[in-house]
Amino acid sequence: MIPVITIDGPSGAGKGTVAQNLADHLGFHLLDSGAVYRAAALHALNCQATIDDESSVMAALESLKATFQPDPDGVKAYLNGRDVTHHLRLETTASAASKVAVMSSVRASLLDEQRSFRQLPGLVADGRDMGTVVFPDASLKVFLSASVEVRALRRAKQLKDKGIETTMASLLQEIGARDERDSSREHSPLVAAHDALIIDSSDLSIRAVVAKIVSALPMLTVAE
Ligand code: DC
Repeated sequence: MIPVITIDGPSGAGKGTVAQNLADHLGFHLLDSGAVYRAAALHALNCQATIDDESSVMAALESLKATFQPDPDGVKAYLNGRDVTHHLRLETTASAASKVAVMSSVRASLLDEQRSFRQLPGLVADGRDMGTVVFPDASLKVFLSASVEVRALRRAKQLKDKGIETTMASLLQEIGARDERDSSREHSPLVAAHDALIIDSSDLSIRAVVAKIVSALPMLTVAE
């Protein structure tokens, strides 16, 4: 089997940066599954779907053609050939993604796309259910968390770097609401896999988190 390392956890825990550093370190491919959900949600919004209505969202997703390209700043995303990378990072898109992510048919429709990233020499996949649902046979599963305050601060900085202004109060509120939705949903809730390595990144640098993961890596072999 092609090796996979999964990194799950709430938004702002540092998953994206850690996953990218780890993928670079190992020479592995990278799956930012949040971007897959965000692209689906953005497409549904563009199609004027009713975001709270599963059949309306599913009808919109029939014409979804999302592609992703590795990029030094994360992934670049294209919807039907149009670069939507900037739109994917907006909080309105994140909020819509969190809403469509509760829908079981939406989750099922995005499974094959996510699994198609599993290619030689290996994959680092970050998200919410990478270790529990999408790649239950992963070589190493990590659950990365951090306090809400630390996550809001990191998100504010990330958005600022991308030229998006926001306030701490609205970020705290949005992150809290998103956590609640992601953890309490019926399908693929955000929980640590029973065999996950749990890391709290509140007081750790990205480099320290990556070092912890690297030291926990099993021998990664590709079975015939
Ligand atoms: O990691 P992110 O903020 O880009 O994710 C956007 C939303 O997508 C988030 O609210 C939860 C959802 N998501 C999910 O349900 N499962 C995943 N594997 C990844 C993201």
